[in-house]
Amino acid sequence: MTSKIAPANGKICIAPSLLSADLWQLGEEVRRVEKAGADWLHVDVMDGHFVPNLSFGPAFVRSLKGKTVLPLDVHLMVQQPLQFIKPFAQAGADLLTVHAEAEGRITDILAHIHALGIKAGVSIKPDTDPHVLQAIIGQVDLILVMSVYPGFGGQSFLPQSLGRIEQVRSLIRTCGHPVWLEVDGGINAQTAGPVIRAGADALVAGNAIFSAADPVHALNQIRQAAPDI
Ligand code: DX5
Ligand code: ZN
Repeated sequence: MTSKIAPANGKICIAPSLLSADLWQLGEEVRRVEKAGADWLHVDVMDGHFVPNLSFGPAFVRSLKGKTVLPLDVHLMVQQPLQFIKPFAQAGADLLTVHAEAEGRITDILAHIHALGIKAGVSIKPDTDPHVLQAIIGQVDLILVMSVYPGFGGQSFLPQSLGRIEQVRSLIRTCGHPVWLEVDGGINAQTAGPVIRAGADALVAGNAIFSAADPVHALNQIRQAAPDI
């Protein structure tokens, strides 16, 4: 298995979250954001334990593979990530992000993801101290800072996330290897600018893109809200 996601390179990536897409027209929704210049597709996986909601499994990821040129950025909001890594890697995930708060030894989980030839990310919920990342930053390609409590699309951005993004950016600066800093939750044309200025270089956006009357316009507005992209 290989990953289509390049190491962090100073570019800003926008990753529409399919959680808010109209699943009746999934192919059309994907084509629309591809044409609008999306960089990755974000797939939210929820198990009903780690978060109080259920969403997509490996079959959903498999249904996308080969149908889109975009890399698949899979966010595992599950209590026991270890058991799901191989099924999602085999289904075609390019990046698997697990939560620092989930069960299992995080170093083993990250090593398992890399052993399957794909990129590994770690995510923290809004109440988790970013310092937990210090011990594992050498093992990750991406850090995902949640800017809402995970589980549902369409929530409002938590303003205290900006300081947390700055903290994580300074950890990345001193770690000596390229790490994406992705932010997820409540991203729209208003919040994108401050989030990027705080240090993010990958933005997940669900509701702001897929619930807009014109998703292409909405994605472009997020891109334009960001300085220098
Ligand atoms: C929330 C998910 C997000 C969600 C973002 O638990 O991880 O990816 O889809 O949706 P918006 O952009 O609507 O906040
Ligand atoms: Zn997500």
